[in-house]
Amino acid sequence: MQTIYLDNASTTFPKPPQVVQAVTEYMTASGVNVNRGCYAAAYSAEERLLETRQLLCELFHGPDCRNVVFTKNVTESLNLLLKGFVRPGDHILVSAMEHNAVMRPLVQMGADFTRVPCDETGALRLDALEGCLRPNTRAVVMTHASNVCGTVLPLEQVGAFCKAHGLKFFADCAQTAGVLDIDMQAMGLDAVAFTGHKGLLGPQGTGGLVLSEELAETLPPFLAGGTGSVSHTEEMPRFLPDKFEPGTPNLPGLMGLRAGLLFLQKTGLAAVRVHELTLTGQFLRGLAPLEAAGRLRILGRRDTEHRTGVVSVQTPGMDEALAAAALEERFGILTRVGLHCAPAAHKTLGSYPAGSIRFSFGWYNTPRQVDAALEALREVCNGTETA
Ligand code: ALA
Repeated sequence: MQTIYLDNASTTFPKPPQVVQAVTEYMTASGVNVNRGCYAAAYSAEERLLETRQLLCELFHGPDCRNVVFTKNVTESLNLLLKGFVRPGDHILVSAMEHNAVMRPLVQMGADFTRVPCDETGALRLDALEGCLRPNTRAVVMTHASNVCGTVLPLEQVGAFCKAHGLKFFADCAQTAGVLDIDMQAMGLDAVAFTGHKGLLGPQGTGGLVLSEELAETLPPFLAGGTGSVSHTEEMPRFLPDKFEPGTPNLPGLMGLRAGLLFLQKTGLAAVRVHELTLTGQFLRGLAPLEAAGRLRILGRRDTEHRTGVVSVQTPGMDEALAAAALEERFGILTRVGLHCAPAAHKTLGSYPAGSIRFSFGWYNTPRQVDAALEALREVCNGTETA
């Protein structure tokens, strides 16, 4: 039995062959450190790293490629950002669809926050934003798209709201970098947190932040250590990216990320998006009769507007974990079941605490695989009694 990987919201798989080649090539033919050695191979690796920053800066319309800071994932990016930015007495706005990568740092810090409500499809209630404001509100931090149901949140409108009210605006783009257009300037974003191993098609252990000039200046370093620069002092450098990048970076991963970015540049984000939404539309159409028969419930939107290629379902006649296990054991279909590190989103969508089975489509999935997933779901759901 062949496996069918439908867990691209977790991490994309497979990666383009160029990504694998870039990692292997770096490990076998070069393997040197950056910002340390003064020999040609080190300079060449530095150039490739700089090019990776430039590609990311271009992709997100950042202010300067030096403001692209590498981290190991979006979680680290959000910790760097929130723990550096939020001060005692601040009030922060988040959406009711956030992942724990946003919520846990805020809760851990004891930060005061308000969740801007979202409707039952996960769409942000823009009309509720104003009422959530307090005199000490300093920022909005928000996911660009739900990792549970794929609903896209309106960054452009929220950015305009933040500008009008003098708030900073941070986006968690874990699910959208490499899939949707993200324009820091047009969306009024002060920071974009991204991961390298999902839509950007790079290896795990890569991610980063793109910062506005003001944040680049005012955020304190998250970690301290050697940077290979200004080594005469025991103080952290004040300039970017060194200020936020002590220690040897994940060079094999970043070489792979560079290859992923070049692959995307050649392929075009629009082509990726059309492909993923075509598969999502096919899947949603196939689910509709099962939902009408009460065999499953789709969370969030049932159309392909304002969404990514992520679809979550509940199976009223069967525990979701058992249904997901049956999909794998009987049909080789790999999904992610449970609460997806996003209890708030599940509460908003009415699927807490049972959770859901999440199907997420990527560049390498095919219509035939979607048909196979639908057929498998029909068998799993029809073999059960509804509650
Ligand atoms: N946050 C990732 C997901 O939704 C890992 O699966």
